[in-house]
Amino acid sequence: MDKFIITGGSPLRGELPISGSKNAVLPVMAATLLTKGTTVIHNVPDLVDMRTMAHLLRILGAKVQFEDHRLTIDTTTYDFNEVPYELVKTMRASIYVLGPLLAKMGEAKVSLPGGCSFGPRPIDYHLRGLETLGATVELKHGNIHATCSRLKGTEIYLDFPSVGATCNLMMSAVLAEGTTVLYNCAKEPHIINLGEVLQQMGAKIQGVGTDTIKIEGVAELHPCECSIYADYIELGTFLIAGAITKGDLTLTHCDPMQAEAVINKLRRSGYNMELTPSTVRITCPRLPKAVNVTTMPYPGFPTDMQAQFMALMSVTPGTSMIAETVFQSRFNHAMELNRLGANIHVDEGMAVVYGVDKLSGAPVMASDLRASAALVLAGLVAEGETHISRVYHIDRGYESIETKLNAVGASIQRVADSNRY
Ligand code: UD1
Repeated sequence: MDKFIITGGSPLRGELPISGSKNAVLPVMAATLLTKGTTVIHNVPDLVDMRTMAHLLRILGAKVQFEDHRLTIDTTTYDFNEVPYELVKTMRASIYVLGPLLAKMGEAKVSLPGGCSFGPRPIDYHLRGLETLGATVELKHGNIHATCSRLKGTEIYLDFPSVGATCNLMMSAVLAEGTTVLYNCAKEPHIINLGEVLQQMGAKIQGVGTDTIKIEGVAELHPCECSIYADYIELGTFLIAGAITKGDLTLTHCDPMQAEAVINKLRRSGYNMELTPSTVRITCPRLPKAVNVTTMPYPGFPTDMQAQFMALMSVTPGTSMIAETVFQSRFNHAMELNRLGANIHVDEGMAVVYGVDKLSGAPVMASDLRASAALVLAGLVAEGETHISRVYHIDRGYESIETKLNAVGASIQRVADSNRY
């Protein structure tokens, strides 16, 4: 296992390109199972989660090649429809293959994901939606066993605009007989990316990116050549790297409008943001001030940016209230930030962050992907050295984060963690 040693104190200055989105590439890779043939996907980020999904597709019998941010997935000969616990426990997004396998093969056996480090994370909307589409779903021995003859179009209302359920049900309904209407859908950019790819494969979908998605099922989909959107969470994370170090950073190859909620909060905190259609520059001309944040489904403030924003507020003058409404116990990073000298109090879905003058380097532990990003950001300004263990979490969702941040002035070393305790 690797760890990061970060020496804090340098303002980040320069330009950084944004990579393709993790949360878009995973469902798009799963969607190739709806076709027979070779799909080519461009702008693919080189991430552990992407490689895990590639491994999963290979287990199912697909041929997958990855080179120079381009994925080639040949599904001509895939014929297996079971996903073992070993993969699902490594990456919850393995559940994305459930809908496509069921819709295409009429049967799928996928191990049931458990809880995760930020609390219970049920998949009842996915399963109920599949049953409403006519599947028989059984839970036995820790596995989901779903079967159907052909799925049948229907109306499905999601109790919460779940990203995962919206993706899985879209990928199931595209091959169903008749019309499916999904209500209260998630509207994240990765949903739109998936919808566009499915359309390129021949699916008939309307309303992607709105609350209501209407799908006319077709008998067959075909492979396509497509591209992955830039990652607006990586964009938000790097904007905060610029903010927290009081630097001057320009992020390129991105769509700033997708990160509007984060950009808006940074502006209100006092940062100067200059936007073009594909770049954002952040500078800090004045003393920033604390602002409150409530996480919400897109286009609200993303839960995937909550930990990073908390790191910024921990060194911003004033008091910030951070309410987490998507995953109410997603606050593991608060205690680790406190080890670096932050003053954060957590209580039932809410954190109160009292800005401190400075943080001081210490050994800390990454507990999940975005929590790790928050610790990296805090390490960039903490006095002395911050040692972050278990950085495999960060490799799941950020491509070469240390190389990118070092290129604009950070000092982050990746070393093997020799800790024996
Ligand atoms: C996805 C993202 C994750 C992000 C999250 C919210 C991927 C691979 N992961 O996760 O980075 O933090 O969206 O933006 O894209 N829920 C249920 N039952 C369900 C499904 C969800 O109760 O069947 C609840 C969840 O517990 C949570 C809320 O709905 O409270 C939102 O979850 P969801 O949008 O489904 O998150 P994921 O798709 O798991």
